[in-house]
Amino acid sequence: MIDKYIMAIDEGTTSTRTIIFNRTCSRISEAQREFTQYFPHPGWVEHDANEIWNAVSSTIADCFIQNNIKPEQIAGIGITNQRETTIIWDASTGLPIYNAIVWQSRQTEEIVQKLKQKEIAEDIPQKTGLLIDSYFSATKIRWILDHVKGAQQRAEKGELLFGTINTWLIWKMTGGKVHVTDYTNASRTMLFNIHDLTWDKDILQVLKIPKKMLPEVKSNSEIYGYTASYNFFGSNVPISGMAGDQQASSFGQMSFEPGTVKNTYGTGSFVMMNTGKEIKLSQNNLLTTIAYGINDEVYYALEGSIYVAGSAIQWLRDQMQLLSSSEDSYQAAIESTNEDEVYVVPAFTGLGAPYWDADARGAIFGITRGTSRNDFIKATLQSIAYQTRDVIDTMHSDTDVKINLLNVDGGAAKNDYLMQFQADILNIPIKRAHNLETTALGAAFLAGLAVGYWRDLNELIEYSKGEIFYPKMNPEKRQKLYLGWQKAVTATRIFKN
Ligand code: G3P
Repeated sequence: MIDKYIMAIDEGTTSTRTIIFNRTCSRISEAQREFTQYFPHPGWVEHDANEIWNAVSSTIADCFIQNNIKPEQIAGIGITNQRETTIIWDASTGLPIYNAIVWQSRQTEEIVQKLKQKEIAEDIPQKTGLLIDSYFSATKIRWILDHVKGAQQRAEKGELLFGTINTWLIWKMTGGKVHVTDYTNASRTMLFNIHDLTWDKDILQVLKIPKKMLPEVKSNSEIYGYTASYNFFGSNVPISGMAGDQQASSFGQMSFEPGTVKNTYGTGSFVMMNTGKEIKLSQNNLLTTIAYGINDEVYYALEGSIYVAGSAIQWLRDQMQLLSSSEDSYQAAIESTNEDEVYVVPAFTGLGAPYWDADARGAIFGITRGTSRNDFIKATLQSIAYQTRDVIDTMHSDTDVKINLLNVDGGAAKNDYLMQFQADILNIPIKRAHNLETTALGAAFLAGLAVGYWRDLNELIEYSKGEIFYPKMNPEKRQKLYLGWQKAVTATRIFKN
């Protein structure tokens, strides 16, 4: 008998990764590729959807070749993705009509402002769980339909298809046969009614988005279709799990119980609390989103989206040239001798939760003649932890749930300095997942459950191991530091270009 595995494709904002897992969740093979980021104007971020597809295909091939795994050994494929990023393509040629507009991009700000003036504006948060913001797919679709000649008419005739990255990948993998999305990705478009689980006809009408270009919405764990054999080395493998990356990491962290909270430190940082089967609308600018839907049961979550986390470390490395690798930030932080009075507010594309201030721009406070490279790096790492505290405090006021533990994962969670500072500034223990690739793992779980590779959620819980960081900072210091951060954010928001 040949061994069977589950393949997870994790298509993120800056790179794409494919990982093959075995039954005990060990990584059997993995490959990663970065792809180009386009910044055509200040505040705009775009990707080439075909380059993403090529990157995904080559990581799949690498995974097979490196460890001599055969496509027929794959029992199911799970897809997880950067959410909200919007692609529109021609249904017959498969060619995108414009670049993918990335979640971070602010090019639809004008459409957002106009939408805010409409009568429906008041209902959108209640219907979708989201705030009206250019972050979500809805205004990005409108922008492409406005800016590509003839696109509106072609969309109305059913010649164009819309998808977030998951939809695009499954459409490509099935050879253009399957046009679907899932509850979690649909819930990030600002077009999906999270109460009745349908595309909202009122929002579609106001934005003049033809429903026929939208994908069918499915659960997070079921067989959606099979790989076209020419795309998967001669095999027709079921694609059986799909979720937005933050929801997948929450699933991979096994946040199945209401009240459990996770934070993933990726390009951005995304804090998510499972709120059970109940829709909990935030009073404090957090988002309500779908955590997952399996077997006709839908679970919801509150989310605080922080735009800049790991990308601040990349900025230190690539733009500021203060680091040769992101990993070096740990050494720099522990060698810093200052008393934490420097603050970096990395509002590079505005501020996300809980401020939602599109016009805020980054700033540095508290520097003196003695401020060193190490201090600067340490302050940037600390900004990630402070932003997380902003969100966790807001979650606490929204739900009254006392958060006793924060589960963490993602690339920057490898940094022990950041983890300890996070525990200190929150004053709660942090549990760092043993397997930091929880996003891919979550997608693998969803795919594996649908094809009977794993029996049920109870079987998965066995694999949730982690390392705990306990808070050590004294309360006066914690309070003083956090107060300094709040002053820095306020000052940043006053200064506008
Ligand atoms: O909402 C955007 C998010 O899904 C992007 O995640 O991991 O690519 O930063 P990441």
